[in-house]
Amino acid sequence: MLKTAAIVGVTSALWAAGQHGLSLCGFLIPKLSGLHLAVLAAGVYLTTGGVHTLWLVYHTLPRDLKAGIRFLKVKAKLKLALFHNLTVPKVFMENVRKNPNKVAFIYEGQEWTFTQVDEYSNRIGNFMIEQGFKHGDSIALYMYNRPEYVCTWLGRAKVGIVPALINFNLQNVSLVHSIKVADCKAVICGIELQASIKEVLEELNLPVFISGCGNTAPVIKGTTNLDPLLCASNPTPPHQIDSVKPNDRLIYIYTSGTTGLPKAAVIKHIRFMFFVTATHYMLGLSEDEIIYNPLPLYHTAGGMVGIGQVLLFNNTAVIRQKFSVSQYWVEAKKYGCTVGQYVGEICRYLLSAPPKPEDTQHKVRVMFGNGVRQQIWEQFTSRFNMPRIAEFYGATEGIANIVNLEGKPGSCGFLSLLFPDAVRCYLIKVDEETGEPVRDANGLCIKCKPGEPGEFVGIIKRSDPLRDFQGYADKKATQKKLVENVLRKGDIAFKSGDILVQDEFGYMYFKDRTGDTFRWRGENVSSTEVEGIVSKIADHKDAVVYGVEVPGCEGRAGMAAIVDPNNELDIKEFSEGIKKPLPVYARPLFLRLISEIDVTGTFKLKKLALQKEGFNPSLVRGNPYYLDNKLGQYVELTPELYSQIEGGKAGL
Ligand SMILES: *[C@@H]1O[C@H](CO)[C@@H](O)[C@H](O)[C@H]1NC(C)=O
Ligand SMILES: *[C@@H]1O[C@H](CO)[C@@H](O)[C@H](O)[C@H]1NC(C)=O
Ligand SMILES: *[C@@H]1O[C@H](CO)[C@@H](O)[C@H](O)[C@H]1NC(C)=O
Ligand SMILES: *[C@@H]1O[C@H](CO)[C@@H](O)[C@H](O)[C@H]1NC(C)=O
Repeated sequence: MLKTAAIVGVTSALWAAGQHGLSLCGFLIPKLSGLHLAVLAAGVYLTTGGVHTLWLVYHTLPRDLKAGIRFLKVKAKLKLALFHNLTVPKVFMENVRKNPNKVAFIYEGQEWTFTQVDEYSNRIGNFMIEQGFKHGDSIALYMYNRPEYVCTWLGRAKVGIVPALINFNLQNVSLVHSIKVADCKAVICGIELQASIKEVLEELNLPVFISGCGNTAPVIKGTTNLDPLLCASNPTPPHQIDSVKPNDRLIYIYTSGTTGLPKAAVIKHIRFMFFVTATHYMLGLSEDEIIYNPLPLYHTAGGMVGIGQVLLFNNTAVIRQKFSVSQYWVEAKKYGCTVGQYVGEICRYLLSAPPKPEDTQHKVRVMFGNGVRQQIWEQFTSRFNMPRIAEFYGATEGIANIVNLEGKPGSCGFLSLLFPDAVRCYLIKVDEETGEPVRDANGLCIKCKPGEPGEFVGIIKRSDPLRDFQGYADKKATQKKLVENVLRKGDIAFKSGDILVQDEFGYMYFKDRTGDTFRWRGENVSSTEVEGIVSKIADHKDAVVYGVEVPGCEGRAGMAAIVDPNNELDIKEFSEGIKKPLPVYARPLFLRLISEIDVTGTFKLKKLALQKEGFNPSLVRGNPYYLDNKLGQYVELTPELYSQIEGGKAGL
């Protein structure tokens, strides 16, 4: 009884504090006397939901406090960085001074110490200045993952030149687009990508430096061999480093949408530090972690959050040219890794690999990333003996970020229900088909209640560098991510583009991309959810689900494409398998087995092309199937059956 009263007392104090921003709690609590507590407790009990509140406090207060305190630590650290005009290279160089010989990167057998990284990057910075590039110019970096990758961008950052980190899978049109959209003045290209840059050299019409040739001349005419020039360049810190400020641009990272051309998101020094510091403190990492980071370094998770732990927190990272399913645990064990990173479908790929002893012989105690589906969460933690998956949610460029601190299965983070305004992120109701926010009588957005899916948004505050949306290099693209008049007239929010849903404790679950939900038989179906289930039943094969239009039917019917190059899928078993987890309206009406699927650089599956192809058996490759609901079975979709469906005679 006494304990409950005490908890309520503390909560009510926090509650009051919550109204003035979380940062006050630390000061308020010690000043409250017993009497205050009792009065507050009674007050809260009577004025709020009574038993429900108590129950909520009991279940969520410890979590909220833990997160709140860690978040304050992050904020304090960043305030300090701003005050001292700290930048990413400056913090890094402080670490170099303290641990010159510690290993920063392990790459396919090579080790690079902090000093080596520092010197290489100094040479780059000095060289760029000698070449006449200046503070604020952007230069593209087009290279496979290797230690030079980080050194090269860090070196430019030391002199205020903004590296545009180009996805190394891009070619031709999209390559040119990415370089142009960031207004790059030159390109540094890895030797392994010479052929791709050669194709577009004329169109780019920019100076190109080739890295990694050593003493041999680059094969392409009209380009410069970077290596000998770097050897001749000065390895001491460029003096321009002091002219760089925390609010300057550090890098451009391209968002890897599953649709459309890539957009270059602006990452300032302070934002980089925020992401990295938040990850470090929220996850409770130490300074001795060895991070297994096989992710592409041009993207947020690998290149910013992962590499940032090395640059700002003195950790060691194992990087590799490309992610390999079979090497993940083998290398994690070999290098004594303590943290593992993943993105997209990586965890599912790991699960679909045959078991081997290394699965449980490694020392990784937290997996960090984004993209583990709810359906495989527990299977993953048990097979790989993983104490914790720290799934986070947040866009590279966005200001709405959350993280799952406690390994709550399937969740990508939480928003406190006791302090709903603590981080100024919300779920708002949207029309599931058009993706537009639903407005109330006053023209404002409507907040979702627990259980109601909505789009995740973060309110922008221009004066706060942590809550300011810095947009894209392209202004028009920036406008599309904003929504006005959200909770009050005149406010503005960043739209994540994703539908999430919150449970009764405030845990958040990813549901779907906006626009990916389809409606069938009057019910809204999340294709992400169905994908998770379909893939699980199909033995963790790659699968995508999308809606296709059926003449004469309202909405769109579900269609699943499963990657099955060796014809292993047992259609009968599959038909049975989906019955239990999926209600009738959510079961894919059409099914297609394909031999491969396009994957983005961040291991997400591309579905747009498949969706466009539809289900016409005379047009699509491979035999499509149709779910005959009377038989409860998938049957081959013959041209006859197809024309029945087309003519509206299949009794749908
Ligand atoms: C940070 O930079 C600003 C101007 O850019 C300067 O006025 C200020 O004194 C600097 N702060 C510190 C602590 O050096
Ligand atoms: C590159 O794009 C151009 C223009 O779209 C096209 O004509 C050319 O065939 C493409 N080259 C390759 C190698 O795909
Ligand atoms: C960096 O790591 C080394 C070795 O793990 C440790 O001895 C050192 O104290 C750390 N330095 C800082 C500044 O954290
Ligand atoms: C499905 O979404 C539409 C559009 O947002 C909404 O009007 C409708 O009520 C939803 N239906 C169900 C069953 O949730």
